[in-house]
Amino acid sequence: MQKEGKQYIQLIAVSAIPNGKAISIHDESVGDVAIFHHNGEYYVTSNICPHHHAAVLAQGFVEDGTVTCPLHGYEYELRSGTCLTGGADIKTFTPLIYEGYLYIEEIEQSQPKWMMNF
Ligand code: FES
Repeated sequence: MQKEGKQYIQLIAVSAIPNGKAISIHDESVGDVAIFHHNGEYYVTSNICPHHHAAVLAQGFVEDGTVTCPLHGYEYELRSGTCLTGGADIKTFTPLIYEGYLYIEEIEQSQPKWMMNF
């Protein structure tokens, strides 16, 4: 979808993610992403925890705008991706809700595909 001169990737119908839930999906152009519906807001981040490169963040514990990795407890801010426990930050995407679907802006890949989640 194109909107205001930007290209967007459709990820999922917002109705598929009730408030308080999170899911992970894989998209060829952005890799493994986690989508969180937390306190009425949607957040899209990489699903890969940089600590051990595990695709688990959508299964993490979410509270007060942060997600805690279920493996070793590293905490990340959902909006910024900042790691609050001393590790590397996670990638975040700005979600766009349009006609019942959640989109993220398509970004030009300047790095190899295996690095797209970092
Ligand atoms: S893999 Fe996430 S904290 Fe270790």
